[in-house]
Amino acid sequence: MTQKIKDLLKKMTVEEKAEICSGASRWRTHSIDRLEIPEIMMADGPHGLRKEPKEKESASMGESVEAICFPTASALACSWDRDLMSRMGEALGEESQTEDVNILLGPGVNIKRSPLCGRNFEYFSEDPLLASELAANYVKGVQSMGVGTSLKHFAANNQEHRRLTVDAQIDERTLREIYLSAFEKVVKEAQPWTVMCAYNQVNGTHASENKYLLTDVLKEEWGHEGFVVSDWGAVNYRDKGIAAGLELEMPSSHGDGKKAIVEAVENGSLSEESLDRAAERMLKIIFKAVENDRDDLNYSKDEHHQLAREIAADSMVLLKNEESILPLAEDEKLGVVGSFAKKPRFQGGGSSNINPYQVDNAYAELEKYTDQKLAYAEGYSLESDEDDVKLIAKAKELAEKVDKVIIFAGLPDRYESEGYDRDTLEIPPNQNRLIEEVAEVNKNAIVVLSNGSPITMPWLNNVKGVLEGYLTGQAGGGAAADILFGHVNPSGKLAETFPQKLSDNPSYLFFPGEKDKVEYREGIFVGYRYYDSKEIEPLFPFGYGLSYTDFEYSDLKIKKNEITDQETLNLSLKVKNTGDIYGKEIIQLYVSDPESTVIKPEKELKEFAKVELEPGQEKIVEFELAKRAFAYYNTEIDDWYVESGEYDILVGASSRDIRLKETVRVESTVELPYEYTINTNVGDILADPEAEEVFNELLSEYLEGTDLFEMLGGRKSEMMEAMLKYMPLRALVMFSEGAVNRKQVEEIVEKLNNNL
Ligand code: BGC
Repeated sequence: MTQKIKDLLKKMTVEEKAEICSGASRWRTHSIDRLEIPEIMMADGPHGLRKEPKEKESASMGESVEAICFPTASALACSWDRDLMSRMGEALGEESQTEDVNILLGPGVNIKRSPLCGRNFEYFSEDPLLASELAANYVKGVQSMGVGTSLKHFAANNQEHRRLTVDAQIDERTLREIYLSAFEKVVKEAQPWTVMCAYNQVNGTHASENKYLLTDVLKEEWGHEGFVVSDWGAVNYRDKGIAAGLELEMPSSHGDGKKAIVEAVENGSLSEESLDRAAERMLKIIFKAVENDRDDLNYSKDEHHQLAREIAADSMVLLKNEESILPLAEDEKLGVVGSFAKKPRFQGGGSSNINPYQVDNAYAELEKYTDQKLAYAEGYSLESDEDDVKLIAKAKELAEKVDKVIIFAGLPDRYESEGYDRDTLEIPPNQNRLIEEVAEVNKNAIVVLSNGSPITMPWLNNVKGVLEGYLTGQAGGGAAADILFGHVNPSGKLAETFPQKLSDNPSYLFFPGEKDKVEYREGIFVGYRYYDSKEIEPLFPFGYGLSYTDFEYSDLKIKKNEITDQETLNLSLKVKNTGDIYGKEIIQLYVSDPESTVIKPEKELKEFAKVELEPGQEKIVEFELAKRAFAYYNTEIDDWYVESGEYDILVGASSRDIRLKETVRVESTVELPYEYTINTNVGDILADPEAEEVFNELLSEYLEGTDLFEMLGGRKSEMMEAMLKYMPLRALVMFSEGAVNRKQVEEIVEKLNNNL
């Protein structure tokens, strides 16, 4: 703690300390003029700046200043591009600095447990490693401009249904491996100035007063240095929040929160030290924000728009390209169908909704790449789900006259938003119908999709091309044109699985739970971890995406065949662009543990890289895997643990396209606590050669000459061996017909334990 903060804390009254831990308005903290403590300002986030002008601040969800709307996280994640994330972060930081915003509220790293979650468009992935790597770079980018971030929503905010009250019940291993691990990496590697607690409860306690999450894990284990802010309105009991590690309540509770804190300190139910700790963390960030405040920045909106276009293009995923229907040629006769071509859906609804400075539409951008006047038909109404026979007929008429027809479709705003979940994966029936009918009259149909999360595609077999854009931000129209005409070679890959149908999803039976309780019964089997283990064929797998060129993988080399869990494994492989155009490839490294004493997914993503390759160019890609890549969260020791054994290193172009494989042996340096009891199974003793020796010696002492000894000693028949495996030691009394008594069983147990 700096001297300045120490001195301030001494001078502050309990009231003042409670005041800086309470929001002054929707977006600002309190200033304390007497002590020259300034206010700081926060604004959403995450994929653009939503700053409400000062005079409008008090109104809820008022209008906001013009800013650049970048693609939302569900799109960004498909770029698998760390550098792009930091560049976007820097741009957002610049915009925030220019608008005097000290903390940008984002990014959101909640895991996509169900494709129905209304807010999935704001989240990155079903995989914590991918989510955290991208988010960490975003955070570093924003913070490099002297603007803080707020990593949200901590934790387990995986549905909108009853989001302020629902209790997410998650076992410890699942929580650690899936739901906390994205936060963990970002906190440890990027130190976001703030973390935003979630609305919901986690295992029986509101996230806003959850000491386990906010203090034990976040502050003590992971070393978070900043403060925790409540999600807007997430506070349940304010004094409990302070005690648990929630420093700031947002927005203003008009004095209620402050009063609760002061009263609790006065009546002794909250210690003043807890309040001091909270106030200290607040002051640290307030002064950090002041020190980092700059007024030398003047960013170019056009340049940021251009960056948003580049990011959008690098995030789009080409899902289907039969007979190389794409890229389009400028001299082909093209038709464009679908309202989204002219009225794009490029962002999601709710707190992240940006007032964009300019919005490109795909129709106009496509026209810029050709000399033709592009034929256009609306095809469907965005306001209704009903088929419009006339609109469909016009679209078919157009489709019949052109070489190729590009259909823009997806989810209208009303289908997905913050605040509620979807109840289906279908796009509106009038759009499905349009695609079916148009594809019937024109065999060269290409569908371009705008949606925040997975949809089904009943027409997939009838169209030749599918380009998934997700929510592309304000420059998405230009980015789509870039890809469709081949000015940019698509390089995005899915950051989540597209299931064939909703009921294939692992959370299907338990989502969104019963009343205020949702049990995460699928455990660690989220996304591809489930589909791959269950061998369920998805519509499109995690990590999948096509390019206009081809890549060849070769020469996977691991530096050592055997390591301990304290060492890192270095490995390399070669990737070659075998086509004749420039492209980028995302290389994915999964680890699989074919033999394990604990239940594990078939494989898990542990590293990835995105490389640029000129035609014919080959590059060496290097990876380094540390302990975590082989570990699972062991709840006996409350720590990450690597079981000794062989692990497969799988390198591929997607989770279902593994191209190279190597095997490494990893030895654990940690001994798990173990104790023999009268209920230890004979099989468990025999699995350990040293224990087996002790056991055999004792048996010969006690049992020599008995039938059981013959059976045990010989263990000749497989059947006998199999049966003995699950015989607990205490059963020796019965099976030896008294040759071994209970006292001797206890001696066996003692000797085995002494030998450990
Ligand atoms: C959202 C947050 C957002 C906050 C401020 C809440 O409703 O959950 O993500 O940052 O509002 O707008």
